[in-house]
Amino acid sequence: MEIQAITGDILHSKADLIVVASYEGESWDNDFLTNLNEMLLGKLFKAAEARGFKGKAGQKMLFPAPDAVDAEFVLVVGLGKLERGISETIREAAGSIVKTAKQLGLSTVAMELFGEDDEDYAPNQNAQAIAEAALLADYKFAQYKKLKNNTIIDRVTIVAENGNDARRAIKGIELAEKIVDGVIVARNLVNAPAQVMSPAKLVEVALDIAKKSNKCIRTKILTREQCEKKHMNAFLAVAEGSDREPKFIHMVYNPERAKKKIALVGKGITFDSGGLSLKPANAMETMKCDMAGAASVLGVFATLASLKPNIEVHGIIAATDNMPSSKAIKPGDIVRASNKKTIEILNTDAEGRLALADSLVYAAKLQPDAIIDLATLTGACMVALGEEIAAVTSNNAKLTILLLDSANSTGEKMWELPLEKNYKKLIESDIADLRNIGKSNYGGVLTAALFLQNFVPDDVAWAHIDIAGPAFAERPITSYIGKGGTGFGVRTLLKLIDEL
Ligand code: BES
Ligand code: ZN
Ligand code: ZN
Repeated sequence: MEIQAITGDILHSKADLIVVASYEGESWDNDFLTNLNEMLLGKLFKAAEARGFKGKAGQKMLFPAPDAVDAEFVLVVGLGKLERGISETIREAAGSIVKTAKQLGLSTVAMELFGEDDEDYAPNQNAQAIAEAALLADYKFAQYKKLKNNTIIDRVTIVAENGNDARRAIKGIELAEKIVDGVIVARNLVNAPAQVMSPAKLVEVALDIAKKSNKCIRTKILTREQCEKKHMNAFLAVAEGSDREPKFIHMVYNPERAKKKIALVGKGITFDSGGLSLKPANAMETMKCDMAGAASVLGVFATLASLKPNIEVHGIIAATDNMPSSKAIKPGDIVRASNKKTIEILNTDAEGRLALADSLVYAAKLQPDAIIDLATLTGACMVALGEEIAAVTSNNAKLTILLLDSANSTGEKMWELPLEKNYKKLIESDIADLRNIGKSNYGGVLTAALFLQNFVPDDVAWAHIDIAGPAFAERPITSYIGKGGTGFGVRTLLKLIDEL
């Protein structure tokens, strides 16, 4: 899909589908809409009246294009109330426009540069929002199924009022294209079945990203033996039950004169059967998604060579399956992690925190300004926040604000939960330093986060994002986030890196 920004009048644009926007509460008594109404022989106002179209977000009216317009259809979309921060409304609208065009079998679309009447109108940001959503809405995991009637959208044209706006819009589009590339890398990795998405495959992907980066990115891979030498026994314990070799991946993007250093840690469980604490069949159905944190880290790295932020970024992934076998770790086993803390493993299905423990120790040794981990860590997170919201726990208020602000601007929903000191007793073991599951049936997100905190020095700013809900969508989340792997986190982390 080609996305372009030009200057002109939307009604004189040439495209199969022409889209104009209307705000809730906007007076319809303006030249533009009156003119469009006349061209449509009065049908615009009539239909709006009859169907209660008020410009609310999500409202749509479709008309066959009048002769004077070089298009097949004219779509009028509502953008809701004109208020600050309408990026998400714009994304939702742009995604839904692309979906509509596909359904109608139309392959070229022209739309206004939405938000021109907005008080803090920023043409680059609005165009970025349109382009991101248009490209993401067009995504489909089609490796294993031939798509029926799949209209290919060849071109989306964003029509700006003047040349300056169009030039800024082009910058926004270029940025969106790079970011979306990263999101799609993550989506494809999550959607690939575990059968092909092994630890070795993640290594292959990491090496490929480094190879294509024009020497911007280096990748170091640790084998099982090398991890043993680093005493990563918590991570290796998870790998015991699998015949597929575990791999520890460390990627580095290190630009000259970087102003900050950040480490991104992704949970990379390439399949989570639960191990000997086996999951029930239905809970296992989506467990190929248990490497979604790793996928998002790889998605971020796939964009770094083209975005070129002035920040040193480390990507850390402990990749392994979690399988039952006669060699698998058993409930009651005790392991010593690489920071020497001992862990009583009472439930082998709480494996993510074990792999992350050694990953976080490794990350902290790099002395970064901040560590952020992303992990499909707990079912409890879905109980607490549902399928669309990730939980954030952090030892640093500044980092939390930066992360939540970044999430707010990308539309990826995150909510802070506390690292409650009083709950530390719930992960104390009688015979080891820690137990890997809480003693209570409640507060599972918090006990998991408190567990992880044991592997991060207090003076290192750290945020943990539990993405169990939004990483893999069982139903569409927005017009531009469909079923399956979502690439959740990529856009927010890139925004955060940009704001560091
Ligand atoms: N990978 C799962 C968590 C998960 C569940 C992710 C649903 C995405 C969707 C994790 O390893 C797990 O199994 N956690 C256990 C922890 C429990 C044993 C303390 C859980 O949530 O049940
Ligand atoms: Zn598990
Ligand atoms: Zn898991």
